[in-house]
Amino acid sequence: MAPMYTEEVLDHFRNPRNMGEIEDPDGVGDVGNPVCGDLMRITIKVDDETESITDVKFKTFGCGAAIASSSAVTELIKGKTLREALEVTNKTVVDMLGGLPPVKVHCSVLAEHGIAAAARDYYQRHPDKQMPPEVEAKLSKLQAIDPHADPTEQQAEE
Ligand code: FES
Repeated sequence: MAPMYTEEVLDHFRNPRNMGEIEDPDGVGDVGNPVCGDLMRITIKVDDETESITDVKFKTFGCGAAIASSSAVTELIKGKTLREALEVTNKTVVDMLGGLPPVKVHCSVLAEHGIAAAARDYYQRHPDKQMPPEVEAKLSKLQAIDPHADPTEQQAEE
């Protein structure tokens, strides 16, 4: 039988990058998938001048693919501006991990939504700044997940 997970997934699962929680964060994103019940918290530090993510950490109460996806997404967005980070989709995460089994693609969606939730929290703390429209667009997709749906049918975003 072919291995279920790529070496990249196993590496991020075994040696997660940026795991933990930032003390005194500038944005916190708490997301959960209502189908599998997995939870993820992303905390970010943001430079107010440039809106760049200077630090990011994750805590994930979930499956190995969710842990690997969270770890990968922190590497993908660290140093990027919030707007650039919002361009990272779950497909970017899956590609970085060298692929995920179809039944586990929704775990990478959680990582994408965790970033959007942390960005929303940042902008809500700074009402003087303009929140990019992608934030609500991404989070409304998360809210639209049917809790009784089959997780294998939650599609990757292109
Ligand atoms: S995040 Fe739900 S099974 Fe992985």
